[in-house]
Amino acid sequence: MAPATRSRFASIAAPASSPPPALPAPTPPAPLPDPHQQQQQQQQPAHNGNPKISFKPFAISVGAGNRKKRPGDGMPEERPQKGPRIYSTPAAPAIIDTSTPTPTPTPTPTPTPTPRVPSPAPHPSPAEKKPPMAYDRIGLVGEGTYGKVYKAQNTRSKEIVALKRIRMEAERDGFPITALREIKLLQSLRHPNVVSLLEIMVEKSNVYMVFDYMDHDLAGVLTHPEFKFTAPNLKHLSRQMLEGLDYLHSRGVLHRDIKGSNILLNNQGVLKLADFGLARFYNTKRSKLDYTNRVITLWYRPPELLLGATMYGPSIDVWSTGCIMIELFTRKPAFPGQDEVHQLELVYELLGTPNPRNWPFVDQLPWYELVKPKIEHPSRFTDTFASQMTPAALDLCQQLLTLDPEQRPSAAQALNHPYFTSEEPAPAAPTNLGLGDWHEYESKQHKRKEREKEKRARKESQIKPVSS
Ligand SMILES: Nc1ncnc2c1ncn2[C@@H]1O[C@H](COP(=O)(O)OP(=O)(O)O)[C@@H](O)[C@H]1O
Ligand SMILES: [Mg+2]
Repeated sequence: MAPATRSRFASIAAPASSPPPALPAPTPPAPLPDPHQQQQQQQQPAHNGNPKISFKPFAISVGAGNRKKRPGDGMPEERPQKGPRIYSTPAAPAIIDTSTPTPTPTPTPTPTPTPRVPSPAPHPSPAEKKPPMAYDRIGLVGEGTYGKVYKAQNTRSKEIVALKRIRMEAERDGFPITALREIKLLQSLRHPNVVSLLEIMVEKSNVYMVFDYMDHDLAGVLTHPEFKFTAPNLKHLSRQMLEGLDYLHSRGVLHRDIKGSNILLNNQGVLKLADFGLARFYNTKRSKLDYTNRVITLWYRPPELLLGATMYGPSIDVWSTGCIMIELFTRKPAFPGQDEVHQLELVYELLGTPNPRNWPFVDQLPWYELVKPKIEHPSRFTDTFASQMTPAALDLCQQLLTLDPEQRPSAAQALNHPYFTSEEPAPAAPTNLGLGDWHEYESKQHKRKEREKEKRARKESQIKPVSS
């Protein structure tokens, strides 16, 4: 958990309260400067960047599918509304706007010709002007390229939530289209293994998505210095991951950024897929999209995208899930490439080199000839992982990591694999996750402190005692 400065949300904009930026990533290097932006350009030319969008039509449906009524949240009837940006209905009280002070009604002066007592002040004092805070900020838990995520508490219901701030600074033309897409997508989803969007909060010029709070993410727990998962835990997590993915795919959603920091976990061992910033609806009838291949963080990107495919479907997420499963078992990323070419090399070295016999039409992918390896590698998959996985887990991972996307099983098929249906042990939720909040953010902070400690120790050991 980030320093627990318990400040009220009104002070969020003060830069001094922000913790220092996260360290240079031990996470996969992003091959492109800004995939969101790039997609935007490729896929939304008609919008010419970010369209101006008013909140009103949007607010009507936010959370409609997802909304669980919580005591004290939303509070539309108590919160005087002003302007078109504040909108809520009893059915979907999804947007809270704290951006403007509550206008206290000016008291009507009593028509007394000679008042003996002073009239009430015509304007409220600044203290009175302040609207009640919807959330108390507890600390920072995520600081991604696209915004900050805070742990916070609903001041009324006392519910702990995550507030994901939507980055507006770079937006000159209105509300960011990427955030809009993410919200729209999240609205349509409701599943125990997919993060729930509770509401949208507008505060000053900031907009926040409000989510159920999750104590950890997989990138965090997998780098925790002490924590270990048992075999039943690993099965429980793998199953939830595939259940979430199967649900997304059955709803026609491609996630397109499955990786440890986007997979959340709470202390009860419930896993939820999160971060729909790169997700898209796809046409289940046409089965494949013609889209950009610059999606999915490099280490989790499947070979067909690395070879330039732009027609793809749910199998891209299945590959990333296979990478995560390996990482769950080994606590190491399966393919930590430094750039696209190196990424492909690592994939080929482990799984063997593809050719038109084991992957029909691979030679027709745009960059196949360009990055064709000179050496043919055989698969080393079984030799590499057999000692760390049960036979069924090994077989399932190998299937999820099939080079040819057409031969990769779907998430639903994977859930019917003997690893889940017959092989012992039975899945069980981890019970010892109460290790303090541990996301990628805290993990990076911890590593940074460790490095600084080491540096200091090295320096001290170099200072030689002055001989007398
Ligand atoms: N609901 C949540 N509960 C707790 N932590 C969260 C939640 N959502 C996101 N986070 C943390 O914030 C980080 C960044 O959020 P994410 O949605 O992935 O945004 P980004 O687009 O910046 O990657 C995540 O990696 C996770 O550690
Ligand atoms: Mg993320």
